[in-house]
Amino acid sequence: MAGCSGVPNMQACFILPLATGMSLTLCLLTLRRRNPKARYVLWPRIDQKSCLKCSLTAGFELVVVEPLREGDELHTNLPRLTELLQSMDPGSVACILSTTSCFAPRAPDDEVCCVSSVVAIAKLCKKADVPHIINNAYGLQCPVIMGNIAKVSAVLSMLFHPCLNWIFMQAARRGRVDAFIQSTDKNFMVPVGGAIVAGFDVEFISAIGKTYPGRGSACPSMDVLITLLSLGLEGYQKLLVSRKSMFIYLAEQLRDLAARYQERLLETPSNTISIGITLTADNAKSLTELGSMLFSRLVSGSRVVVPGGSKDVEGIQLEGWGSHCPNYPTAYLTAAAAIGITKKEIDQFISKFEKILHKFKEKHLKNMIALTPPEVEDSQQKLKVTPSSKWSNTPRGSWKKKDRRRKKSGETQPTDGDHQSPPESSVLNSPNSDPDQSIVNNSLDISTNGLPQQEI
Ligand SMILES: Cc1ncc(COP(=O)(O)O)c(C=O)c1O
Repeated sequence: MAGCSGVPNMQACFILPLATGMSLTLCLLTLRRRNPKARYVLWPRIDQKSCLKCSLTAGFELVVVEPLREGDELHTNLPRLTELLQSMDPGSVACILSTTSCFAPRAPDDEVCCVSSVVAIAKLCKKADVPHIINNAYGLQCPVIMGNIAKVSAVLSMLFHPCLNWIFMQAARRGRVDAFIQSTDKNFMVPVGGAIVAGFDVEFISAIGKTYPGRGSACPSMDVLITLLSLGLEGYQKLLVSRKSMFIYLAEQLRDLAARYQERLLETPSNTISIGITLTADNAKSLTELGSMLFSRLVSGSRVVVPGGSKDVEGIQLEGWGSHCPNYPTAYLTAAAAIGITKKEIDQFISKFEKILHKFKEKHLKNMIALTPPEVEDSQQKLKVTPSSKWSNTPRGSWKKKDRRRKKSGETQPTDGDHQSPPESSVLNSPNSDPDQSIVNNSLDISTNGLPQQEI
């Protein structure tokens, strides 16, 4: 990783042939060797199993710090962390494990848009003389990282370009950062299996490297090297810039879809990768069906979270599992725009999601509206059509009517002010095309390029 030497702030980094969770475990094991008396990892809660399993596998006990909710967004609970550090023996705390990238509605611990929690956590760590490890799993691609990308000279140095460096350097300068770890697959679209361990203390970073027992494998480093050489700096920059606009596009599309189905987008401005949309049903539990419908249609990156769930992860009981807190007020679905995502993929996702949501609401919501007028009811599709439904005045309903009017009058182009029909409106009327069947064979994984999809 000689390229990193081109970045003044970066002191050391290397690629481990282990994915993020296991790489975090190795960092924590290094801390354990330095302070064998330490028992606890203070963990601002992020509902992703690897985030907590990494500490448990390293033999530590987790002190779960529940977030604070402000509107829709869940923030790092700094007062609770402060309280814990004041009340605990600092020697018993192995580290605070913060996370800069996570599913909505959790705001990342870096929260660069507002106040940087990671800097605040680093300050707390410095004051209490407690180590600080940052899980930056897919944080390299967030908008703040893209900001000053053009200023970076070496290809690999873009891993740690000035903006990201700024956050971590602020944290390191004003407080304490022992290491920050990022996934290779989530940031460089390579196969799962590698992570970049980086930090400001050469000795500590090389100590982590030395704990690795064995020689292999060189594949994750080779994958990153080949990818960066083939993309080049410009290619990678383009992907970062495109991801940013794709995130905005995804948010717009989801917002429109939400409005059509009387749902709303969760307001989580600090999270610039993942986004959520509320889901309502007579019986909230039935919403899990939506998740499996999406999954069986090969949309594996999004996840449906229903309040009230609880999960035992390796002996740690977490109430409200999935939503990062015990009592999130609404069910929701999350989707994310990771590096490499294309407009076509987002369109496919929205189209599949809308079909599924339509089917779901039709089945589960009383007084379900119809998106097609009575006279075009298709017995083969078994679509219930009730024009007096609560959605009948949505733009979708009017698209349909306008489409029919146009057909009758022989019009081919939409007239001024018309919306374009949503992609599946024709599918709904086609005798040969089951709206669901038509998408089963389309492989779409909106999160293939680095989004967390397993381990939830
Ligand atoms: C925030 C976060 N941390 C850690 C992980 C675990 O990553 P890996 O599968 O590379 O171990 C994930 C996976 O999605 C994640 O989202």
